[in-house]
Amino acid sequence: MKKSVLINRIIKPFNKKIEVTSDKSISIRCVLLASQAIGTSKIYNLLESEDVINSLLAIKKLGINYKKFKNFYEIYGYGINGFCPKKNARINAGNSGTLSRLILGLLINIRNKVYIVGDASLSKRDFSRVTEPLKSFGANIVSKNNTLPLSILGSEFLSPIDFKEKLGSAQSKSSVMLAALKTPGTTIIKAKKSRDHTELLFKYLKVPMSIKREQKYDLIKVDGPFNFKGFNYKVPGDISSCSFFLVLTLLSKNSKICIKNVNINKTRIGIVNILNRMNAKILFKNKRNYNGEIIGDIFVKSETSLKAIKCPKSLNSYAIDEFLIIFLVAAKAKGISSFSNLGELNKKESPRLEVALKFLKMIGVNFLRSGDDIKIYGRPDLNLNGNYTMKNFRKDHRVFMMSCIAALTFGGRWKIHDKDSIKTSFPNFIKKIKSLGAKVY
Ligand code: S3P
Repeated sequence: MKKSVLINRIIKPFNKKIEVTSDKSISIRCVLLASQAIGTSKIYNLLESEDVINSLLAIKKLGINYKKFKNFYEIYGYGINGFCPKKNARINAGNSGTLSRLILGLLINIRNKVYIVGDASLSKRDFSRVTEPLKSFGANIVSKNNTLPLSILGSEFLSPIDFKEKLGSAQSKSSVMLAALKTPGTTIIKAKKSRDHTELLFKYLKVPMSIKREQKYDLIKVDGPFNFKGFNYKVPGDISSCSFFLVLTLLSKNSKICIKNVNINKTRIGIVNILNRMNAKILFKNKRNYNGEIIGDIFVKSETSLKAIKCPKSLNSYAIDEFLIIFLVAAKAKGISSFSNLGELNKKESPRLEVALKFLKMIGVNFLRSGDDIKIYGRPDLNLNGNYTMKNFRKDHRVFMMSCIAALTFGGRWKIHDKDSIKTSFPNFIKKIKSLGAKVY
């Protein structure tokens, strides 16, 4: 199989209406919550990417069946005590931080030991952000250096916790919320703001819960244990996948695009806020509410007068998966852009801050780094003409896609390795950019 792509010309002007793949965060949550429901859940538009397929395989290992139909999946749950893994069951979470961290929350009452393993990238990531609070509920978790592989043996004597989530990690918050679903009493979470899909799904499922929104934190209280019936859900488009097309259009000449049916939940549109502050004129139309999530169509045109941003750190967790692509815009904008407190970027599928800085250096864009803060010296005249190779980025899907967008807009002759990484979140990414006219070999 071909493992790399070649791109050696920029994309010609385009004017298209497209859809992107379904939201990965919501797809994984739907699979995991359906595994806890009593009865049949029907999930429409489930993202069929490796992270989500691994989620389906994981619940199967835990004794939950599912069936694929033409445009939906049925998942057959037995309630919050319904997991029945074989002895020493082993869940392979592949590349997915979300699956591995969230499923641990659901395993805190498991009476057979379960092992969680992951690929080389996931095995380098820190799990203390979930194992510490889950141990306080009463679960028994064993891991070396707080990384995968790890084992979990749940407890039948769980007690609720009072958890302060300080990283702005939705995975950590959600893992604790899922554990709270199984735990008698009130679990209290003071969470730094981050994406709120779990909260919205809990509301949809009528989980007894309250949320008090403060400026920087949300105070979430969940009363467990709680059982709910099978549910139906239609997963919207993924703003993170959409972001590559927003930037492709912005940085191309005389182009426009409409991306339909995207999740524009305010905890996910950090990228739109940031790009609009840089003089992009991204518009939302046809907005509607779907069980608390906001869905809309997104419009954007090419923009030749992009300007630098001083990015407020309050937007960091709302744009956490999009900084790589945002840096491309900063590289082309007029002025010096500054971003601060980006430490969490280095905790992703690859150390993305390091990877991004190496990338900027390779394409001749200056930057200044001070700890977790960076300044990018924009070059509106940036037009590349050399040979560029992207490799050794831990098969990080978002690095691969960002590199393709750079090649299609900045010019130069590019060889970009690890094409298969897109299977994680956006398996038809190459097909989509080709549908806009991109030449990719
Ligand atoms: C996710 C949360 C984010 C994000 C990840 C998906 C989720 O991580 O980077 O891709 O679905 O909850 P954090 O836990 O750091 O917020």
